[in-house]
Amino acid sequence: MIEPSRAHPDALTRFVHRFEPARAGGPGFALLLLHGTGGDENDLFSLGEMLAPGAAMLSPRGRVLENGMPRFFRRLREGVFDVPDLQARAVELAEFVAAARDTYALGAMPLVAAGFSNGANIAGALLLAHPGALQGAILLRPMTPYEPESLPSLAGVPVFIGAGTQDPYGTPEEITRLEGLFRRGGARVEVHRADAGHNFTRGDVSAAGEWLAREFALGSAEGAT
Ligand code: MLT
Repeated sequence: MIEPSRAHPDALTRFVHRFEPARAGGPGFALLLLHGTGGDENDLFSLGEMLAPGAAMLSPRGRVLENGMPRFFRRLREGVFDVPDLQARAVELAEFVAAARDTYALGAMPLVAAGFSNGANIAGALLLAHPGALQGAILLRPMTPYEPESLPSLAGVPVFIGAGTQDPYGTPEEITRLEGLFRRGGARVEVHRADAGHNFTRGDVSAAGEWLAREFALGSAEGAT
């Protein structure tokens, strides 16, 4: 397996990205916002603000272009993924996260991914391939594009899966497979099933926000360095 390097010279700059520091009174964790296919680094800030008002937020733009649409890894066609590319892109993202921690002085603050669709898929892969990169994840409408040969220890890592019962991509079978992977790794998984399709709903956002507050009740970012 390719190991991420904190020292990679372009680790931060090869991702177009946006960072918003924590505001006083914000929570004691940061969010890594990961957009869906065709999105960009600006897409999920309003979601982040609904999930955790005042949290520090870091959002990279996926480096793969599919007909001009940014993604976090290549797919061969809808629902068929280029797994070696996914693995290489997960390394790049782990390196980005490590470099951003230093550059934006996040210190040891927990970093929780909030990803939608393709962004949820790379967040899930990051947890499974580079488990130290994230301290938790909200996966909205994920699939199971990546299953590692051996599962890492994810003991106690909180994972929220926001599934849509009519999602044509994240079908019930896909969600069960993903949930099983995380559970077997020891993660603390919550699956929220909305009566919805691939797009997430207000109900998903409030369930994920409540889950975040429960799992990461760490006090405020005021005075955080
Ligand atoms: C998408 O359209 O982004 C898919 O549903 C998920 C993916 O391709 O990773």
